[in-house]
Amino acid sequence: MKILILGGHGFLGKNVVEVFQNSGYEALPISRRDSLDLTNFDATKEYFGKLRPEAIINCAAMVGSLNYVTEEAADVFDCNMRMLVNIYKAALKTSAETVMINPIANCAFPGDLETYTEDSLWKGKIHQSVLAYGNTRRMMAILSECYEMQYGFRSLNFFVPNMYGPHDSTDPNKAHALNALIGKTIKGKRENWDKIEVWGSGIAVREWLYVKDCAAVFLEAVKRLDEYGFPEPINIAKNSGLSIRELVSIIVDEIGFVGKVVWDRKMPDGAPRKVMDDRRFRKVFPHFEFTDFRKGIRKTIEYYDSIFPY
Ligand SMILES: NC(=O)c1ccc[n+]([C@@H]2O[C@H](COP(=O)([O-])OP(=O)(O)OC[C@H]3O[C@@H](n4cnc5c(N)ncnc54)[C@H](OP(=O)(O)O)[C@@H]3O)[C@@H](O)[C@H]2O)c1
Repeated sequence: MKILILGGHGFLGKNVVEVFQNSGYEALPISRRDSLDLTNFDATKEYFGKLRPEAIINCAAMVGSLNYVTEEAADVFDCNMRMLVNIYKAALKTSAETVMINPIANCAFPGDLETYTEDSLWKGKIHQSVLAYGNTRRMMAILSECYEMQYGFRSLNFFVPNMYGPHDSTDPNKAHALNALIGKTIKGKRENWDKIEVWGSGIAVREWLYVKDCAAVFLEAVKRLDEYGFPEPINIAKNSGLSIRELVSIIVDEIGFVGKVVWDRKMPDGAPRKVMDDRRFRKVFPHFEFTDFRKGIRKTIEYYDSIFPY
């Protein structure tokens, strides 16, 4: 089975490629690095037409830190919307039988919710800090519904919480929060810093997903494409989170950093708790086992240790 992984050299994409290839699939990564700019419709259509994949996993996006997606808001919106409409149109025109798998970042949910249920996507405004990016993620859900409605084109939509794990960008403007913290703490240990600084008071609770678990859910979904229709979006969820304090304490402990942790309380904590409701996930994937958090952190530390200094 041929699976095309758009954005297959990025953080999620690279892990998806590894998980699928290790299970014997022909998983083909593609991005600008391989000379395909998905904002170019003709090039995208030509490429899809040559490959005619059975499934497309859409991990391509213009994304980065909160700062980045705010400072570049207009370009983030423009580039992500162009990619999305091109990807759907090109897939329909060249391989209408393909199934599109969309990881939809949970910043698409209303900013003031504490527990995200799949049906609450439209029950409020996206947080201003992710206005451009979050709204393009919402559009993945709309676009897939429109293509299903008019053409019967199939998509599987998964809402995905913050992830951590190997293969993230090492650019501070692009790296994801938890990975960036691990990288900083490793640096602190290697360079004998006497302290590391963390934003906020550490009380906020967030849900974290080991990136290979996300890829493993996609793998299970692909294996069961004929058995189950996946007609509704599904949270990849545990319905449990960790406070930033707990998180930092595990990271510091696993890395063996002996300096102080200084909490910068001038920086906002954000909402006290944000987790994903897991009822639908458990109905569809009753036996899925998530990686234990400490084990996932250890694997991530091993990865950053192996590429340090970066
Ligand atoms: N990371 C998380 O914690 C998280 C959580 C939930 C959901 N997600 C979702 O997962 C998806 C991937 O996120 P990520 O964190 O893996 O991002 P990432 O590491 O920045 O990867 C994005 C990929 O998109 C490619 N890309 C960007 N612009 C492109 C273009 N014009 N044409 C072709 N390829 C292009 C990039 O490669 P080139 O630069 O080579 O083109 C890169 O491979 C996003 O939809 C994101 O919302 C991520």
